[in-house]
Amino acid sequence: MPTFYVTTPIYYVNDRPHIGHCYTTLLADVVARFRRLDGDDVLMLTGTDEHAEKVIHRAREASVSVQEWADRNAQAFRDAFAFMELSQDDFVRTSEDRHKSRASAYIQKLVDSGDIYLGDYVGWYDPGQEEYVTESVAKAHDYKSPVSGKPLEKRTEQNYFFRLSAFEDRLNEHIDAHPRFVQPEARKNEVLGRLRQGLQDVPVSRAVKDDVGEDWGIRMPNDPGHRVYVWIEALCNYLTVVDTTERRHYWPASMHLLAKDILWFHAVVWPAMLMALDEPLPGCVYAHAYFVAEGRKMSKSMGNFIEIDQLRAYGERYSVDAVRWYLATQGPLGATDADFAHANFIDVYNAELANGLGNCASRVVNMIHKYFDGKVPDARDATVHGDVDWPSMTGGHVQKTRDCFGLVDLHGAGHQGLAIVTAIDGYINNTEPFRLAKKLTGPDDPQHADLALILYNCAEALRIAAVLLLPFLPQKAQAVLDMLGASTSGNGELEAHAQWRGEHGLKAGTPVVKGEGLFMRADTEEAAPGA
Ligand code: MSP
Repeated sequence: MPTFYVTTPIYYVNDRPHIGHCYTTLLADVVARFRRLDGDDVLMLTGTDEHAEKVIHRAREASVSVQEWADRNAQAFRDAFAFMELSQDDFVRTSEDRHKSRASAYIQKLVDSGDIYLGDYVGWYDPGQEEYVTESVAKAHDYKSPVSGKPLEKRTEQNYFFRLSAFEDRLNEHIDAHPRFVQPEARKNEVLGRLRQGLQDVPVSRAVKDDVGEDWGIRMPNDPGHRVYVWIEALCNYLTVVDTTERRHYWPASMHLLAKDILWFHAVVWPAMLMALDEPLPGCVYAHAYFVAEGRKMSKSMGNFIEIDQLRAYGERYSVDAVRWYLATQGPLGATDADFAHANFIDVYNAELANGLGNCASRVVNMIHKYFDGKVPDARDATVHGDVDWPSMTGGHVQKTRDCFGLVDLHGAGHQGLAIVTAIDGYINNTEPFRLAKKLTGPDDPQHADLALILYNCAEALRIAAVLLLPFLPQKAQAVLDMLGASTSGNGELEAHAQWRGEHGLKAGTPVVKGEGLFMRADTEEAAPGA
């Protein structure tokens, strides 16, 4: 069975979860669910990054121990992901021993091989980001943080360095040889552009300072006066979690998902560390763009972050699956930012879910109730009817769903199931089963078989659409399958379940259940929930 290992960034526990964290983890979830359905042995990993200095500061402000603060916020992330129905197989916390012990061992290995060495560092430090910026970046921003605008600090430190410069050629070669290693294309070009300016060695430790004072983080092996720089150990999480006998086969990761803010660490620093550790490199590093809120960049100072509570309010009013659908299909998956705007949410919700999938399902089920006593009609097997070649139309969308997932195109993938729904609606409008039903003189009327065929085709196509939509809408797509009395499609069963009138096709006589309305139409005038 092929393995598929997908990761998300591990999130800082200085803050509570917001739409950005939920978005990346949702992408990983949708991909993971699809791969499981399509037969891969999947491992999906998310978690929290806990050793940053800002976590210590936030804990102090709140007058609690760092551990308590980290526990509290790690739990907030777990709760947020549970609410979003995210199906991670593991949730790593960098304060766990399994992470700390293995990350230390990797650092030791790099010290032993000479890829990490002790030297002096003078540079411009951005305290908010906990990273150094290059002289040219510092100058371009008037020696202020490019992110927060706060003054940069000139720092001189004795540090351990990672010999990043030694991997420049190999990194360039790897990116050339694997065109899909860094995605999307625009981001890859950025990385290549920066690589052309040459690579400098990077500091990987920080002297343990009095002001931090806590025993928090990972010390340099054999030099406890230095703490391992948080980024360096955090990146190791992707490997520490699978560095066990049971899980080693998942490595290398198939896909690291993240946003553009942390691309450099994932596309350059981490692969170089892996080269130094003699480990194979991940299949791809995909860096999406940002969600903005109502057209404006989200920021602390603006106070306009879409927090988890607001997403919960959307979930309560429109369903969790509606939130998943909007984020996954309208999100900033490519190189351009996407807007979370209430009006747009409502438009998409009404058009695609309420008037789309929901309305189609209730139309089909209601007609089966009305004309066939609530049982799947016994229909002849006619592949082409009403100008639609049903097996090839549905089969085409199954294949395109796979192709879209291969291209990390979640909008495209989600719209394959929806395209089947649109085809069913068009077929109903063309063949007008409700009109046909009125004309029938009784079950012996020769046209009765046509009515059975039309409604069977609608229901069978709806079943396949629901199977394709399962990764996006785990509850609602399952509800559609339940309404149709279809068998549940489990891991590895996509092929069999998406087959037209195959082994899992709808069987004549199976009871069809009306079910509650899947998605209530939304009032376009209604104010945003939880705003
Ligand atoms: N702890 C580091 C990551 C270490 S990974 C080895 C970190 N944490 S973070 O909490 O700041 O999370 C950053 C990530 O959150 C982004 O890369 C992205 O996945 C997600 N997002 C944060 N804001 C976002 C948006 N506005 N829009 C979409 N996703 C964003 O960096």
